Amino acid sequence: MTLQRTLGTCYYPEHWPEKIWAEDAARMAVLGLTWVRIGEFAWSRLEPSPGDLQFDWLDRAIDVLHAAGLKVVLGTPTATPPRWMVARHPDMLAVDDQGRPRKFGSRRHYCFSHDGYREEGVRITGLLAERFGRKVDAWQTDNEYGCHDTVYSYSDAAQTAFREWLAQKYQSPDALNRAWGNVFWSMDYDSFDDIDLPNLSVAEPNPSHALDFRRFSSDQVARFNGAQVAAIRAHSDVPISHNYMGRIVEFDHFATGRQMEIATWDSYPLGFLEDRLESSPEHKRRYARQGDPDFQAFHHDLYRAVGQNGRWWVMEQQPGPVNWAPHNPAPLPGMVRFWTWEAFAHGAECIAYFRWRQAPFAQEQYHAGLLRPDNVEAEGFAEAAQVARELQDMPAVEHTQAPVALVFDYASAWGWSVQPQGAGCDYFRLVFEVYRGLRKLGLSVDILPPDAKTLNGYALVLAPGVLTLSDALKAALSETTAQVLLGPHTNAKTPALGIPVPLPPAISGLSAIVARVETLRNDMPIPAENGGSVKLWFEHLETTHDAVEKTEAGAPILVQSANLSYLAGWPDEMLLERVLTRASSAAGLSPEPLPQDIRIRDTGTTRFVFNHGPDAVAYNGQSIPPAGVTWD
Ligand code: GAL
Repeated sequence: MTLQRTLGTCYYPEHWPEKIWAEDAARMAVLGLTWVRIGEFAWSRLEPSPGDLQFDWLDRAIDVLHAAGLKVVLGTPTATPPRWMVARHPDMLAVDDQGRPRKFGSRRHYCFSHDGYREEGVRITGLLAERFGRKVDAWQTDNEYGCHDTVYSYSDAAQTAFREWLAQKYQSPDALNRAWGNVFWSMDYDSFDDIDLPNLSVAEPNPSHALDFRRFSSDQVARFNGAQVAAIRAHSDVPISHNYMGRIVEFDHFATGRQMEIATWDSYPLGFLEDRLESSPEHKRRYARQGDPDFQAFHHDLYRAVGQNGRWWVMEQQPGPVNWAPHNPAPLPGMVRFWTWEAFAHGAECIAYFRWRQAPFAQEQYHAGLLRPDNVEAEGFAEAAQVARELQDMPAVEHTQAPVALVFDYASAWGWSVQPQGAGCDYFRLVFEVYRGLRKLGLSVDILPPDAKTLNGYALVLAPGVLTLSDALKAALSETTAQVLLGPHTNAKTPALGIPVPLPPAISGLSAIVARVETLRNDMPIPAENGGSVKLWFEHLETTHDAVEKTEAGAPILVQSANLSYLAGWPDEMLLERVLTRASSAAGLSPEPLPQDIRIRDTGTTRFVFNHGPDAVAYNGQSIPPAGVTWD
């Protein structure tokens, strides 16, 4: 598949006088942009009071952009319900886990379970689709589901909907009591109407109850999104997308992804490094102006899996300093170009910069745009222009399947967070560390959903921490001739989050059981015999296989049977490198430890090399400058 490569920006015509729209559009076109996303926060100007539709200005804005040769992504405005909406539906506000309403005055102030608000969303979406469905070139639903911690709501609407969801799922309170193990602490229910949301309990709620609430909440997001998608589809044939985020795991993105053609995400490398990663102060300092070397790539690969047929974009690309992280440094010169090329290397069709012009009012005043508030080009502008020029000269790139597959499962993230067993034991963190370990060996990775039906074409497959292997994945794993690396904590739980008996991991072909689990303080790692150690999480294995890796005391850490290996602990960097080198070499790959700051991405035709560091790095006979990208 040949990759499409276009650029775009996010534009808010409602923020600027109409007389400058045409000039803005002309400058976008000259810059070499193709796409403009508009409209996603404009509800108060599209419908200033209930039923008073003011769509003409948006129509004119779309005309102006089209006249300049630009294509338009129209956002549905449901992330910002206007004030009158809250007056109309006072109980639409989400409620936090302390029982407090999350009030009007910013954005995302709605509960996914509120039927009245979902219908309002469908209504405005349907009206927009009716008017613009044959005019715009793509759609975006809402904006960043889950941003500002908005998936979970403990409102009355959520409570009612949760009870209905449970009744559907379990059919009888008895079945629910059995599945949850409610005999423990006399928690049995006689009626679904007696079941509360799992907040404000004296001690921790039953983990099965908490997990079902997370599953329910994820379903509510998909239901909300699906309703908008249907309203758009009734009037429009162009692709529909949603802009996801970095490290948001509270809802199943594969479920919403199946509803739409394109997955997009919002990439803010410097903000993410500051506030979304477990890493040392030295690491944060080293990459403060470049972003973490693996965080963006991980999400590029994740959203390639979420989009249908691998279609994905970056809908918002950081263009300079942002406003929302604990510190907001400016990127190193060249990084805006670098991030754009990195996304293309991972298969993005479009990278859109957020935003066109910096807004000198309201919440994001210090957030850079491609233009400054005074209309002068900001630093990112020239870098975007450089990419636009480079795109013209660069030959087409063919996308191809990566040799390594890494399974990512949102339900496992919920299970781990409900029952972490030890501070710092987090599913995303585990999977991300494995991903980083693979990349540090120069390997390109595909991320797979947990119900992947085939593993054809992969040399190495990993599923760390997937709590319950789906039947489909189990079947695919037993058929594959790839090297398979499972653990820690893979297939360790029943779907209701109980411990299965026979004990895990219960993988056919592997004669090993996890007899007990312990979690470790940061200052009590368990040293491995050949260097490195197990941190955070250690499983005591009873096994008939010889251990390939052992603790200094001789306990198994890694066991292998034919092409199947099981890792019984959370490896530190050194142990992980050894485990991954072994597995990928056995898979016939050529793992090569890269210099600290270098990462590689292979497409079918091109090898991209990226220097994420603050200094030049010698690699493969050349010196790659900071923010440097090479391809051949
Ligand atoms: C995103 C959001 C944008 C803007 C941006 C600032 O999370 O979708 O609307 O707020 O962050 O970085």
